[in-house]
Amino acid sequence: MEKRDIIHDGVSIKIFGTDEPDKVLVHFTDDITAYYKIKKAVIKDKGLYCNNISCMIFRHLIRGGVPVHFIQQVSETEQLCRKVDVIPMEVIVRNVIAGSMAQRLGLQEGLVPKATIFDLCYKSEELGDPIINDYHAIALGLASREELDEIYAVTKKVNDILVPVFKSAGITLVDFKIEFGRLPDGSLVVADDITPDSARFWDTETGTRLDKDRFRHDNGKVGLAYKTVYERLKQVTDL
Ligand code: C5P
Repeated sequence: MEKRDIIHDGVSIKIFGTDEPDKVLVHFTDDITAYYKIKKAVIKDKGLYCNNISCMIFRHLIRGGVPVHFIQQVSETEQLCRKVDVIPMEVIVRNVIAGSMAQRLGLQEGLVPKATIFDLCYKSEELGDPIINDYHAIALGLASREELDEIYAVTKKVNDILVPVFKSAGITLVDFKIEFGRLPDGSLVVADDITPDSARFWDTETGTRLDKDRFRHDNGKVGLAYKTVYERLKQVTDL
């Protein structure tokens, strides 16, 4: 497999074409940003930790029967994936109240809701990724009713698989964001990584934040937190 031109130049991931038109190479960088790129830094080895965490999670999801874009890990910072048409919509799962949900509804961080919460956001950096509902998603042509039903079912399955995995690593999976893409035949796959950049991981015993909130809130030891997630997941059997 040969690496070709860059096709997506993101902050934390860069995507390259390959000599196989249906496959892309996803490269994880050490760059980190928050608050729509107002805050920027470089965290040593973040790309390595995020790629390895993402690969472990994808391998586990594949074993659980979840359709994903991931094919295989290529190096410490790269993974080979199927090329997809990404739907510009974020699906957020919240098992514990935190972040924007706590702020928007005046709720206490750490509160466990009576049911798992699923949010949809329209992916637009200029608009600040505004929250939308199913009616918006269908009306805007982002997804059909049937596709939304599948997106919710797959997202719930991802959560049901990952909550116990993280629990056995001593980590509470507070919330996470995923995106979906369409393969050439129109079928949906999870086309986004779950890493400390896009999820909240709290140490179950101490409540210590092991994710990007450390960077957002200037708590320090960002790299160490990512490394902790990576090393704890590695300890979990069969990951
Ligand atoms: O900001 P908020 O609390 O809504 O984020 C919920 C979860 O989704 C967090 O884990 C956050 O890191 C992730 N997220 C993301 N990208 C966004 C918005 C949220 O990865 N654009």
